[in-house]
Amino acid sequence: MKALLLAGGLGTRLRPLTDDLPKPMVPIMGRPLLERIILNLKKSGINEVVISTYYKSQYIEDYFKPEEDYLGVKIHYITEESPLGTGGAIKNAEKFFDDTFLILNSDIVSDIDYADLIKYHNRRRAQVTIASIEVRDTSQYGVIEFDEKGFITAFKEKPKPGESNSKYINAGVYVFEPEVLKEIPENTVVSVERETYPKLLEKEYRMAIYKFNGYWIDIGTIDKYKKVHEDILKGKSRFVSTTSSRGIILGDNVKIHPTAKVIGPAYIGNNTEIDAYATVGPYTVIGNNCRIGQESKVSQSVLWDNVKVRRFARLENAVVTSECIVEVNMEVKNTVFTANRLASTTLTT
Ligand code: GDD
Ligand code: MG
Repeated sequence: MKALLLAGGLGTRLRPLTDDLPKPMVPIMGRPLLERIILNLKKSGINEVVISTYYKSQYIEDYFKPEEDYLGVKIHYITEESPLGTGGAIKNAEKFFDDTFLILNSDIVSDIDYADLIKYHNRRRAQVTIASIEVRDTSQYGVIEFDEKGFITAFKEKPKPGESNSKYINAGVYVFEPEVLKEIPENTVVSVERETYPKLLEKEYRMAIYKFNGYWIDIGTIDKYKKVHEDILKGKSRFVSTTSSRGIILGDNVKIHPTAKVIGPAYIGNNTEIDAYATVGPYTVIGNNCRIGQESKVSQSVLWDNVKVRRFARLENAVVTSECIVEVNMEVKNTVFTANRLASTTLTT
């Protein structure tokens, strides 16, 4: 089966993390989110994906080469010249799909069982199935109302307070029958959530809700981006399969000086070096090829690749993007360090 990955959004709320790369490419435990999504799809028997891009599309194409096999999954691209919205992007990819297919928002970390979702869709003989989770505050999501048989009766994108009593939201994972694509106009900006779903309901298409109660989060904001790492390190999600010893996950060729201290839970990527008397952890993720200098301290932080933390520097509740150098004695606390500068972003503690 094939899947369409919607990956063209601007990632505005994740800035400055998305200044240089598109949101689906931010690293989750040292590897791009999109890569981890593709690997998880493969485990559910998806062997072909279409990536729908717009913002910084080249960055994605440089990583997963077009028309190539990426770890056994064939990759196709469809790129917009100007953003078409979620519905327009789906319509734009129509030529790839002539059978039941999956659609995913590319900013979701979840343990949704795709194979079970597809089975459910087939059993209900639905034309669209939307995966859904229950949340307390629905205001940032699409809200789903449904009947006692599990068929959707209303879809309300980002409803105002009081507009819906339902607590079930759109988890950004859909199964589609290709015939519904005829309801989306071509070469037009369309929101699948605001326009297509209400239209399909009006026309009485069979839309089923697939309720799911495992781990789910969208990494729309930096606080949530940090929380995902904490949750994975706490073992709340199976999204990243890891083996750890006393909560410490080590990549290949990691060098830890005998006097350095690593406090789990923590993740340290390939070829990273931790120098004498440095302290790393807890709740810390360090990417590949990093160097953590002598007597420095890094806790509750996420570091991307090729980061250098110089001697005596202190990092606490921070995100540091790739290639940054945190200078000697510098303190980075409750914020993002990017392009060798402290960002104005404040992270909650
Ligand atoms: N190709 C393409 N073109 N992709 C797009 C475009 C576009 O114009 N606009 C958005 N996308 C992609 C984004 O990259 C993302 O993966 C996905 O579509 C959803 O866009 P977001 O911008 O992340 O939407 P949202 O988070 O406000 O809301 C969506 O996700 C919620 C769950 O996290 C909606 O689908 C909600 O209904 C849902 O509850
Ligand atoms: Mg989103």
